[in-house]
Amino acid sequence: MKIGIDLGTRNSLVFIPGKGIVLDEPSVVAVSLSENKILAVGAHAKEMIGRTPDAITVYRPLKDGVIANSKITQAMFRHFISKVNTGINRFIKPELLIGVPAGISSTEKRAVIQSGISAGAKDVFVAKEPILSAIGAGIPINLASGHMIVDIGGGTCEVAVISLGGIVTAESLRIAGDVFDECIAEYIKEKHNLAIGDQTSEAIKIKIGTALKVEKEETMEIRGRDLETGLPKTIKVSSNEICEAISDPLDEIIVCIKGVLRETPPELAGDIMDKGMVIAGGGACLKNIATLISQKTGVPCFIAEDPLRCVAKGTGAVLDNLDVYKKSLMAKR
Ligand SMILES: Nc1ncnc2c1ncn2[C@@H]1O[C@H](COP(=O)(O)OP(=O)(O)OP(=O)(O)O)[C@@H](O)[C@H]1O
Ligand SMILES: [Mg+2]
Repeated sequence: MKIGIDLGTRNSLVFIPGKGIVLDEPSVVAVSLSENKILAVGAHAKEMIGRTPDAITVYRPLKDGVIANSKITQAMFRHFISKVNTGINRFIKPELLIGVPAGISSTEKRAVIQSGISAGAKDVFVAKEPILSAIGAGIPINLASGHMIVDIGGGTCEVAVISLGGIVTAESLRIAGDVFDECIAEYIKEKHNLAIGDQTSEAIKIKIGTALKVEKEETMEIRGRDLETGLPKTIKVSSNEICEAISDPLDEIIVCIKGVLRETPPELAGDIMDKGMVIAGGGACLKNIATLISQKTGVPCFIAEDPLRCVAKGTGAVLDNLDVYKKSLMAKR
């Protein structure tokens, strides 16, 4: 039994060869403190964020793409394994292939492997997320030609140039969707004197957020707490305000992409100029992100198909063709 896992800061996906993606849930766990018991994992737990009594705590066990709470991560792994390993397979210990950020330290990598083993896996393999993301985006990574992938997730932005199945140059930035949300909340606090929750700022970003100013603005009514009166209040925000709110983290992402391009050997840079770079991860869904990046870098940009699922699909392709991708897997310890 082999299971591929995209352990994301925001979303975790599980892939089983022959079945495809069987689970796609927020990386959230709700724990009852009094009974020290896991109450819910995934979507159910996410609904509880910001709405729990004292006796319940909701955790996001991943931060910046790596494990911040190993006990809770283990609970999440155990949940995934039990959900997919049913019937007769229940007694077979699965092998896990887990995607990790390219810039992960060896301690962080060990934590991933250890959490998988403690959750009941027979063995844990790890592969770098940009490679998995590129495979899942349909990029033929084993060719002797340069390909560039930019994966903008919740916790990390990973930029990599890949050739012959390996990473040639890469940079991991711990700035991505979560930071966009924080900047939106900060902006609304400063400009409108309104405190809003994480889920509201994310909803604003998804509904009207844009990477470039637009002529035809969209607006959205949002609710929060007036910081002067302390009472609930509704206000209207518009696309270009959100564009302004997230411009700093977007600039940092552009600087990171430019840095990787500068370090790329000329032959490969030429290949990338020809074919363009591919954007994946949930951040690829931000309106006008491809236009912004290609304007700033001069390199054509394309959004991957199904960008939130590229890493999970990549784990699937690797599990289905282990001999082809052997050299793209990381050494285990
Ligand atoms: N339509 C959208 N517009 C803008 N952002 C979006 C959209 N849809 C999803 N996102 C953002 O994408 C992020 C989640 O993406 P993804 O699932 O790829 O991250 P992750 O894999 O969990 O994180 P990481 O790879 O950093 O560990 C969240 O910040 C979410 O708000
Ligand atoms: Mg991801």
